[in-house]
Amino acid sequence: MPLFEFTDASALLGTVREVDTRKVSIQVNSDEDLRKAKVGQLVALQVASGVDTWLIAFIDKVMKSVVSNSSPNDEQTAEKNESDEDQENTINSVKLTLVGTTRWIAEKQQTVFSRSLVQVPDIQAKCYVLHDQQLENFMSILATSGVKSNSLALGKYTLNDSATAYLDGNKFFQRHAALLGSTGSGKSWTVAAILEQAALLPSSNLVVFDLHGEYKNLSYARQLRIPGPEELGKSSDELLYLPYWLLNADEMQALFIDRSEFSAHNQVMAFQDAVIEEKKATLSTLDKQQILSAFTLDSPIPFSIEKVIGTLSDLNDEMEQGARGLKQGKFYGQFSRLLTRISSKLTDKRYGFLFGAPSSEHQYDSMAKMVAKLMDYNADKAQIKVIDFSEVPSDILPVIVSLVARIIYQVQFWTNHETRRPIALVCDEAHLYLPKKEGQNPVELRAIEAFEKIAKEGRKYGVALLIVSQRPSDVSTTVLSQCNNVIALRLTNGDDQTTVKKLMPESLESLLDVLPIMDVGEALVVGDAVLLPSRVKINPPNEKPLSATIDFWSVWQQQSDEPDFVGAVENMRKQGRS
Ligand SMILES: Nc1ncnc2c1ncn2[C@@H]1O[C@H](COP(=O)(O)OP(=O)(O)OP(=O)(O)O)[C@@H](O)[C@H]1O
Ligand SMILES: [Mg+2]
Repeated sequence: MPLFEFTDASALLGTVREVDTRKVSIQVNSDEDLRKAKVGQLVALQVASGVDTWLIAFIDKVMKSVVSNSSPNDEQTAEKNESDEDQENTINSVKLTLVGTTRWIAEKQQTVFSRSLVQVPDIQAKCYVLHDQQLENFMSILATSGVKSNSLALGKYTLNDSATAYLDGNKFFQRHAALLGSTGSGKSWTVAAILEQAALLPSSNLVVFDLHGEYKNLSYARQLRIPGPEELGKSSDELLYLPYWLLNADEMQALFIDRSEFSAHNQVMAFQDAVIEEKKATLSTLDKQQILSAFTLDSPIPFSIEKVIGTLSDLNDEMEQGARGLKQGKFYGQFSRLLTRISSKLTDKRYGFLFGAPSSEHQYDSMAKMVAKLMDYNADKAQIKVIDFSEVPSDILPVIVSLVARIIYQVQFWTNHETRRPIALVCDEAHLYLPKKEGQNPVELRAIEAFEKIAKEGRKYGVALLIVSQRPSDVSTTVLSQCNNVIALRLTNGDDQTTVKKLMPESLESLLDVLPIMDVGEALVVGDAVLLPSRVKINPPNEKPLSATIDFWSVWQQQSDEPDFVGAVENMRKQGRS
């Protein structure tokens, strides 16, 4: 059965007048025909050769242009014959972007759609608008070719809401994805919709960075949380400590050393030596000979930061024997500021997740336990891990989030190739910890670089990023530009729209004009994970994230008790809501 049969003239839009690879211009003969064309609609173009082969395109632009008439005597004739003038002096045309080809494949006894263009249309080829039955036929091809074992049902096509829009789950995660949209456009709901489906797979593995505690009610997820100041020193399955000895040399330097100081170089050397000595001490006590001979400054091995401070302060106070009695040692007084800085970080409760862990977290095998919390997937509810960062102060957010991401990436890197299983990091509100590099301090730079590394090399080791943000123009360009699939929800800000446009292939730019006018929960999905770049109404998740938009006016209409302001002030003082 042929895919499209355009027996009556009602679907005919016009004929091809101009072809420029993916862009096609159609000549439309009457105003009536022109009215059939709506921007965003799909059309089919006849192909001369090839039985039942059609080129599919989007309508970009519908135009009725007036052509100025130059002959001098025209004024008179025009007045005489007004209706004629109308026809002579306007050109009706429609601009299209070609998106793919449908073809009958005899061996499969099936019509398939592919994104490649077998050929460009011929001049004068007929162009038909797809609606009703024809549109349904085409959408059902999309839907049936979309249902594969690896498909992720995202929602319904806006063009035809009986057709389910699928994402290819392999391609979506293989080369990173971005989910972008203004605040309240439906990003968190989309994340929940994707998580919900992933949770059904027996060994899926996703870690969600939850910045506002929006996902803490999801019943299918394991909930982890960075301990707040109140919880320091307590040990529990939910609490995720990141002991300081997990930091690599770069991160530690960024945290403790002020590059602008005169003695910075000496500080780095002395600090590193002291850390190496303490790591060595740990390994010797445990008799880890193999590791002793190979470990580096970057190796995550527990050591005592107090002892490092001790060594540095000895050097700082050291006097040595000179020719005329005692004189100041080589490093005398050079580490005073460093020591103050370290001790202020150690006592800063906000850094408690690094320095305030109970001793059970500082054991040699604690790291493997922590990694299992983050990365296992066989236990109950373990496929989806939600890490709640909602009580972490914003200035240290980049450090923590990137530390978690880096550890996951490195463990993945060092896992044997044969046993390595893919894992995806869902970075909600990415603009908060993955900003552009300009103007960031050294600690933040390290954090951003950790993510950039994952963006660039994660694919090879099965680490995928799903970058979610309401401010794409603030997100690191390196990271965003590595995202091969984009789900763009409504975006009203011009800078953000420009950023998203840059992520898309040039031929699709015109599609993006709908970004500011889409409905909540409606998205433009582009990339190799979808058959057709298209507008999709995203399925609401069954379990909703805690992100409801507050209905101010309705709430103000009700009588209600006041919240406990005293309690809120106390929470603010102790930096915790419990
Ligand atoms: N697919 C959808 N269908 C219907 N309504 C939706 C859909 N997605 C979101 N909404 C509505 O929009 C509201 C906000 O959605 P959501 O919290 O996902 O926005 P967001 O983009 O994550 O916002 P923010 O950037 O502020 O985090 C939801 O509470 C819900 O009422
Ligand atoms: Mg959100």
